[in-house]
Amino acid sequence: MDSDPRVNQSLPLPCATDVGVIGAGAMGAGIAQVAALAGHRVRLFDTGMGRADAARTKIGETLVALAAKGRLEPTAAAAATERITVVHALGDLVNTGLVVEAIVEDLAIKRALLRELEVVVGTEAILASNTSSLSITSLGVGLKHPGRVVGMHFFNPAPLMPLVEVVSGLATDPVVAATVHATATAWGKAPVYATSTPGFIVNRCARPFYAEALRLLGECAATPATIDAVMREAGGFRMGPFELMDLIGLDVNLAVTRSVWEATFHDPRYTPSMLQQELVAAGFFGRKSGRGYYIHGDAVAPPPPDTQPPQPPPVRVQAVGGGEFVRALSARLAAAGIAVAAAGDDEPAGGEGLRVGQTLLLQGDGRTATAIGAALDRRDVVVCDLALDYATCTRLAAAPADGCSDTAWSAAVGTLQAAGIAVSRVDDVAGLVVLRTVAMLANEAADAVNQGITSAADVDFAMRKGVNYPRGPLAWADALGAARVAAVLRHLAAHYGEARYRLSPLLARCAASGTRLGDFRR
Ligand code: NAI
Repeated sequence: MDSDPRVNQSLPLPCATDVGVIGAGAMGAGIAQVAALAGHRVRLFDTGMGRADAARTKIGETLVALAAKGRLEPTAAAAATERITVVHALGDLVNTGLVVEAIVEDLAIKRALLRELEVVVGTEAILASNTSSLSITSLGVGLKHPGRVVGMHFFNPAPLMPLVEVVSGLATDPVVAATVHATATAWGKAPVYATSTPGFIVNRCARPFYAEALRLLGECAATPATIDAVMREAGGFRMGPFELMDLIGLDVNLAVTRSVWEATFHDPRYTPSMLQQELVAAGFFGRKSGRGYYIHGDAVAPPPPDTQPPQPPPVRVQAVGGGEFVRALSARLAAAGIAVAAAGDDEPAGGEGLRVGQTLLLQGDGRTATAIGAALDRRDVVVCDLALDYATCTRLAAAPADGCSDTAWSAAVGTLQAAGIAVSRVDDVAGLVVLRTVAMLANEAADAVNQGITSAADVDFAMRKGVNYPRGPLAWADALGAARVAAVLRHLAAHYGEARYRLSPLLARCAASGTRLGDFRR
C-alpha cells in the first residue's frame, strides 16, 4: 500500500547495502532469508550457541526444497544462502546499512542491544526492531540518534506472510520510516505505516477475534469446536479462534492481550479472559504442549461441532423484508423447490427474516432471540447469525428464544437445512458468534483509524495480509451498513452494561451521517 505520501519520497536501500539480522530464531531466520533472497548480503548474529549456524543451515535446506518444487531457480537458492554469513560478535555488524533485531521480547534487553549497536554501525544506519508489542518510542530512549529507530514488524512465518508494519515512534525520522517501507516493498512485502501504540495495527485490531470467542465460551454458549466451525463456514475465516489460539500458543496469545490491556491502562475492551489464564496456568498452551482448547495427538479425533439432526423441509415460506439475508435464503430455498412468497402487509414487523408457519426466523441484530421475541410479543422466534455470504455459506449458528416450541425450532432448522445450510445451535446469547465478532472487529479498526494509528485503507489491508481475514473489517462493516453495526454494538452494550462494547466515535459518526468507514479521510 502506498496510501502514505512519504512512500513516494524514499527509495529502497540498494541491494549493495549489507543487512544485519540479530536473533536467529523463528523470526530472525525468516527475515534473513527474505533479505538474502532480495539480493542483500546478510550478517546473522545470535548469542545462543550455534543458533545462527543452525538457522543458516535450515534456510539453505528450505531454499533447496523451494528450488526442487520449481518455486525458485536453483542458482538463486544457492546464491541467497551464500549471501548469508554468520557473525560472532556485534562488532562484526560494522558497515551494515540496516540492522533488524529479532531477539527476545524484553524492553531492557532490546534497549541495551540498541545502545551497543549504535556505536558499532555508522550514523546513517537504520536500526529496525521486529518487536510485536514494545513501544518503538521507548526503544529509542537513551540513543544518540533515536530518529533512526523504527519498527519493522514481520508476521510469522516471515518468508510467507506479506504484511510488514512499519512503525514510527515519536522520535522516528519520517525518511527512515519511508526508506524501510520502500525496502520492504522491494523485498516483495506489503508494508503499511503505523504509529507506535499498543499492538500496532494487527495485534490490536485482532483482539476481538479471540476475545468474543472467549466470552462465548465463558458463557457456555457453545463449544470451541462449534464456535470454530461457525467462524470458518459462516464467517469465512481460514481458522476458528480456538484452533488458531492453539496454534499460536495460549501463553503467547494471552501475553499479547495482557500487554495491550496493560498498555491501555486496563481498557475493558482488552480485558484478558480468566478462562484462558486458567488454561495457561495449567500448562495447556495448545499444540506445543499437546493440549489447549483441544487435545492434540495422532490418536485423538477432533471433537465435532454441534450440527442439528435433519428436520423436515418447509412446504411454504414467507419472506419478511428484502435484504441480503432474505434474498439469498429465498433463492437457495427456491432452488431446492420450496415456494417462497413475500409476506403480506398484515404480517407483524420484526426485522428481516423468513416466516415458516408460526415461526419467525430472523437475522440477528445484537439482541437475544428472547429480547426480540419479547419486543414482538411472540415466543416462536429463532435468530440467525451473520455469514460472510449467505448465498454460499455451508453452516449458520442459530438460537431459539426462551419458550420457543420444539416444533418452531424444528421448522427453523428444517428451513435452513432445505437451503443446504448445516445448523449449529448456540445458547441464546446477544450477538451470536460471527455477528458480534465482526461488529467488534470493525469497531476496533474504526477506533484505530479514528486515533490516527493507521488509515482506513491500511487497516483493512493489514488484517487481510497479516492475519488472512476474508474481508477487511471496515469493508465488512460498510457492506452491512455502519448504522447496522452500530446498532449491534449498542444492543451488546445495553445487554452487558459494559464499557467493553462502547462505540468508536468514528463508527458512531459514519452511522449517523450514512457515510462509509472506508472513505474516511481527515
Ligand atoms: P525466538 O525465541 O525464536 O528467537 C529469539 C532469538 O534471539 C534466539 O535465538 C535467542 O538466542 C536470540 N537472542 C536473545 N537475546 C539475544 C541478544 N541479546 N543478542 C542476540 N541474540 C539474542 O523468538 P522469535 O519468535 O523469533 O521472536 C523474536 C522477536 O520477534 C520478538 O521481539 C517477538 O516479539 C517478535 N515477533 C515474533 C513473532 C512470532 O510469531 N514468533 C511474530 C512477530 C514478531
